Amino acid sequence: MVAAVRVHKTGGPEVLTYEEVEVPAPAEGQVKIKQHACGVNFIDCYFRSGLYPSPAGMPFVSGNEGAGEVTAVGPGVTDLKVGDRVAYVVGLGGYAQERLAPAERMVKLPDNISYEQAAGMMLKGMTAQYLLNRTFKVEKGTTVLMHAAAGGVGQILCQWANHLGATVIGTVGSPEKAELAKQAGCHHVINYSEEDFAARVKEITGGKLCDVVYDGIGKTTFPASLDCLRPLGYFVSFGSASGQVEAFNINILQTKGSLFATRPTLNHYVAKREDLVATANDLFKVVGSGAVKIPVTHKYALKDARKAHEDLEARKTTGSVILEP
Ligand SMILES: NC(=O)c1ccc[n+]([C@@H]2O[C@H](COP(=O)([O-])OP(=O)(O)OC[C@H]3O[C@@H](n4cnc5c(N)ncnc54)[C@H](OP(=O)(O)O)[C@@H]3O)[C@@H](O)[C@H]2O)c1
Repeated sequence: MVAAVRVHKTGGPEVLTYEEVEVPAPAEGQVKIKQHACGVNFIDCYFRSGLYPSPAGMPFVSGNEGAGEVTAVGPGVTDLKVGDRVAYVVGLGGYAQERLAPAERMVKLPDNISYEQAAGMMLKGMTAQYLLNRTFKVEKGTTVLMHAAAGGVGQILCQWANHLGATVIGTVGSPEKAELAKQAGCHHVINYSEEDFAARVKEITGGKLCDVVYDGIGKTTFPASLDCLRPLGYFVSFGSASGQVEAFNINILQTKGSLFATRPTLNHYVAKREDLVATANDLFKVVGSGAVKIPVTHKYALKDARKAHEDLEARKTTGSVILEP
């Protein structure tokens, strides 16, 4: 038996239950992992609350990201062996000392990436990779607006966009977070708790507005995010930290400048093994070079997963959050 954090019924952070679970031998195509660090992400709250239904039924072990070493391989697994250092994004099962996972979703960790960094970046960093390179191609001269710039995805995406040569405007909810957003490469920071962010974007850009808005906030930043875009700009709604964007009339995209709008998710961008490996390798390269740092500033014991969710949802965390199993 090993310690894990399970959800028996959906609800608030109090439904996260620290208990013992059995981890059997790996089946066909699976590996067993001794976990060294587990990532905590906003999507974990969506599964916990029931906003996203659990694909594993009930009860389920919370968590979608982790890093550790392979301790056993199941039949048919040929490219991983006991002792390999791996990291992953896999739907559920993450908050545990040991777990089974499909070998084909594992990525081998280079020596220069620690378990802690890996658990702090596989989900958030691969998301930043596809958002900046595939959803919209950010390059020198692009003007980007990133909401929640001091958050987990926020700090990684802002550093990376800056590295690509973009002008980066970030929004944050407090003066302390504004400092962190600046350190993470934002050229301009707007405190949207106090300022009208669309008006400030207009002012900062001299009326030219942004080429792309990355919005993981959802309900409270819509539709003002659209007012930050130049004609034919891209609205990328990639999360719902404040609640989901409500149904809207698609004609608003025409009146606000023939805008493009998309609601992407990592799973679709890394569904093919070759895309998963390419996306992870690109992330390892940019982190390995030092161009993007992974700020793992909030660490909790596995048994304190509840507190980690409370803090994440109360906007008390910055950067990446991990659990130590
Ligand atoms: N689509 C994908 O592929 C994908 C992948 C990864 C993550 N995501 C999404 O990206 C977003 C960020 O995820 P993360 O794990 O890195 O979290 P995070 O940004 O570290 O935390 C969320 C941040 O959102 C801001 N926020 C604004 N209003 C909020 C509210 N009412 N409740 C809670 N937070 C609020 C807070 O920053 P301020 O205090 O500065 O406002 C908070 O710190 C989430 O929406 C997540 O679902 C999407």
